[in-house]
Amino acid sequence: MSGQAKVSVVILAAGQGTRMKSKLPKVLHPIGGKPLLTHVIHTAAELAAVNTVVVYGHGGEQVKAKLADEKVTWVEQAEQLGTGHAVDQASPHINDDHIILVLYGDVPLIRSETLFDLVSKADEKTLALLTVHLDDPHGYGRIVRDQHSNIQSIVEQKDASDSELAITEINTGILAVQGKRLKDWLSRLENNNAQGEYYLTDIIAMAVADDCAVEAVHPDSEDEVLGVNSRPQLAYLERAYQRQQAEALMVQGVTVIDPNRLDVRGKVTVGKDITLDVNVVLEGDVHIADDAYIGPNCVIIDSHIGEGVQMQAMCVVDNAKVGAKSEIGPYSRLRPGAVLDGDNHIGNFVEIKNSVIGKGSKVNHLSYIGDTDMGAGVNIGAGTITANYDGANKHRTTIGDKASTGSNSVLVAPVKLGSETTIGAGSVISKDTPAGKLTLTRSKQVTIEGWKRPTKKKS
Ligand code: UD1
Ligand code: CA
Repeated sequence: MSGQAKVSVVILAAGQGTRMKSKLPKVLHPIGGKPLLTHVIHTAAELAAVNTVVVYGHGGEQVKAKLADEKVTWVEQAEQLGTGHAVDQASPHINDDHIILVLYGDVPLIRSETLFDLVSKADEKTLALLTVHLDDPHGYGRIVRDQHSNIQSIVEQKDASDSELAITEINTGILAVQGKRLKDWLSRLENNNAQGEYYLTDIIAMAVADDCAVEAVHPDSEDEVLGVNSRPQLAYLERAYQRQQAEALMVQGVTVIDPNRLDVRGKVTVGKDITLDVNVVLEGDVHIADDAYIGPNCVIIDSHIGEGVQMQAMCVVDNAKVGAKSEIGPYSRLRPGAVLDGDNHIGNFVEIKNSVIGKGSKVNHLSYIGDTDMGAGVNIGAGTITANYDGANKHRTTIGDKASTGSNSVLVAPVKLGSETTIGAGSVISKDTPAGKLTLTRSKQVTIEGWKRPTKKKS
């Protein structure tokens, strides 16, 4: 173990990513809604590194702008002359006494446990290298070992002999090495190889020549070290990542009906005995309390779902709070600022925005409730609409406890409905209504005696 040696991280992210066929720089393509590079930066952060240097190139301004909040040092590699050249760009920021951990910005699923293991094996006399055995090693640098199984060098695919090509142990590219030695070896790299590049991998043979041991560490799973070069690979790692999210939730006591049909794009905290049905998407900061059921095809974004909530299929909940024991859906839409106090029923094709819905109140069918303060025990009839917008400004509607609106009522804001007000069906309410009384605006129903339906004239 390298004792208390401090760690600095260098993340290589200057590659072009041409095979993505995208305007977006490769490392900004998302997995679980988060850029590839951000995954790597956040995993590296778990090592409490003193400094994290990101070597950028292609699309650098866009990358820096998108990741402006990350605590990293940005270093440009103007021309992509190879991985060794890339690491060398970070040399001015590399402390001699630190252990330098080299990561790739396009290898997003590397785990911090693996990196701890790697870093702990590195010191001034040992270079630690993350390697893996692959059934198909094509394209990767091969790990060349001597008859005692000691690592001697890495040979790139394009420089390898037939016998070297048969080696199935490959270089993941991730390694940990003392800063002082790294800088020395980098300064001596040459580019006389098949690709005319400065290969970082050439430092392995230099280490061996300088009596530095090279120790291999292996990841738990191959997915940890897979890179993204194309969209199929992006999709493969997205699923691998989602599988991990689903497993983490199941370990915490969540029933996930189909772990292959759950998408987490953010941070989810959960209670116990929750069920997530198929095709649920959870985005941003989502909290789901005990015993909640989330039905098929629900999308929940930055929201809080209370205890025992029953959310039927096809609901969209965005920046909202669903109080305990509420039943919502199918087909309910809660927009930002919707707060359900609890025991609520929100039915199909109901949209609620920037409104508080008091305890036990029901909005069961085909309604729009916007900018409203609703008391407890209210019953909103089918098709009730709050007309909250006059074309220029938004206005609030206040609805007292136990009020009841008939079907197709329009509440023209600003307006206040008293507690236990009853509104007759089809009313357009533009003035405040008194408590405990029936209010309605309705033209009288008449029947015309002697009226006849028109008939078609004979020509
Ligand atoms: C590299 C390794 C190879 C290893 C493979 C694992 C070398 C010479 N080869 O090969 O042994 O099996 O990764 O995927 O190191 N990059 C820069 N600047 C550059 C070149 C690359 O920042 O000038 C970055 C890329 O963005 C990428 C990483 O370094 O994140 C690896 O580059 P890539 O071109 O994919 O390396 P390979 O040739 O595949
Ligand atoms: Ca590559």
